[in-house]
Amino acid sequence: MQHFVIVGILVVVMAVLTYVGLDSAGLMPVQASAQAVSIDWLWNWQVVAMSFLFALIFVPLVYSLIVFRRKKGETGDGEHIEGNTNLEIAWTVLPLFLVLAFAYMGAYSLGETNRVDPDAIEIKVKGQQFSWTFEYPEYGIVSTELHLPVDQQVVLKMESTDVIHSFWVPEFRVKQDVVPGRVTQYRITPTLVGDYKVRCAELCGMSHYKMENPVIVDTQADYDVWIVEQQAIAAAAQTPEGQGQLLTVKNGCIGCHSIDGSKLVGPSWLGTYGSTREFADGTSAVADDAYIIQSIREPLAHEVAGFSPSTMPPYTALTDEEIANIIAYLKTLK
Ligand code: CUA
Repeated sequence: MQHFVIVGILVVVMAVLTYVGLDSAGLMPVQASAQAVSIDWLWNWQVVAMSFLFALIFVPLVYSLIVFRRKKGETGDGEHIEGNTNLEIAWTVLPLFLVLAFAYMGAYSLGETNRVDPDAIEIKVKGQQFSWTFEYPEYGIVSTELHLPVDQQVVLKMESTDVIHSFWVPEFRVKQDVVPGRVTQYRITPTLVGDYKVRCAELCGMSHYKMENPVIVDTQADYDVWIVEQQAIAAAAQTPEGQGQLLTVKNGCIGCHSIDGSKLVGPSWLGTYGSTREFADGTSAVADDAYIIQSIREPLAHEVAGFSPSTMPPYTALTDEEIANIIAYLKTLK
């Protein structure tokens, strides 16, 4: 009996120490959404359960190894133990209740996470190798930055143009796959103004690790200013060059092609138009209209030295006029 009391006390002490240690390790990023509250609540109870179960196994094991080890001069067999029905009932029924309790808590947390606000702002998200694009249909805005007003629910309607991606902002906690051929939803109510990042959480190709875009939670006033600025930019985009620039944002081109000469997945566009392109096979060509049209529709036609054309999908859906606009835009990048 004395052993049970000592082990019982040690289990409680060990469980508390384990919990305090895990809790103060700061394993979670800052909590920045309303949905994160119930998720962190559930997570916290799981850490409590894990700490207790860890102590329940670890303490009796180590205690037995030390206290019940074979003493000097002892040569007899250990005590023979028959089954214990009460113990077996206890270790079947108690975990059953624990699992049911966590099932209930999980369902509650899922319900909280999916709670619908009828006034949620709708934003369209497009995932593609290897960047994100955000469209605000209400305002006619397309951006590579996701701006969200604080304390206002948004619903992201997400589509992929190629493979499976996964939309994940760790500070918001919720994660949702973006699957080609269907629209998936992501509801979030940001609660903390700040700069975050959406990371792709699904291995989607060579440059998967680069698939991250800024997520900015603004005060309502800053959000309104940003909307007005973006609307002005959209209005200025009525020229062919402006239309072309907008298309390169909408289609995710600028995820792989820089406009400032820096090297990304594909060649930079700075000074590309009219330049001589050197190919991996030693040949070359001048980047005129015909060359650019072919490079957009059949990227595999030429392998520019130092780059792999297989990372770029063929953009066959772009019309002749759209490509003409993109070429007009490329001509401005000198
Ligand atoms: Cu998209 Cu990984």
